[in-house]
Amino acid sequence: MPNQVIARGLSHVALVCSDMYETVKFWEELGIPLVKMEELPGGGQHSFHDMGNGAMLSYMSFDGAPPAQPGIASQHLDVRKDGAKTAIASMNHVAMDLPADRFDDVLATLKEKSIGVVTINHGSDAPFAKTPDEKTWIRSMYFRDPDGIAFEFASLMRELGTEEDLAPRAKNAKGERPDYTPVLLRKRPAHATE
Ligand SMILES: [Fe+2]
Repeated sequence: MPNQVIARGLSHVALVCSDMYETVKFWEELGIPLVKMEELPGGGQHSFHDMGNGAMLSYMSFDGAPPAQPGIASQHLDVRKDGAKTAIASMNHVAMDLPADRFDDVLATLKEKSIGVVTINHGSDAPFAKTPDEKTWIRSMYFRDPDGIAFEFASLMRELGTEEDLAPRAKNAKGERPDYTPVLLRKRPAHATE
């Protein structure tokens, strides 16, 4: 594979919460511990929570923050009824990587805590089945934080980047598919060496 990745991974993604105390408790009880809290000028705070492997979830609280705008800045609470569409440049959802062998335990923990959760086997003919099949490329559970921000725990079931994975070519804003071959599908020159 061409090595064109200059970053090492996700450092943090920062969201805005209404109550830092409730947010910290929620994540610590799910096994995502607080590792750093900062005070912000103006009375707010900025938190960092360990998502594993060097990646952090982060929140900011601001005194007098504007209210949530479901369907614009974040997902509607009921995506089955209202859809998952949000505004350009909004934060739609955050997915944390979960080892596949821990998926069922984490799902049980969410249910024990009465946190609403929906699972989907993406790519499967039985997307809502309790177990994934060989066509499932990612197994996901969807839930919300205390402010209704959409989260996902996801277990990748295989390596991606196959021709089939990349077959739907990207559309431009007019809905056309300009001629473009993703880097992973380009033939390397015969003289290329590893
Ligand atoms: Fe996702």
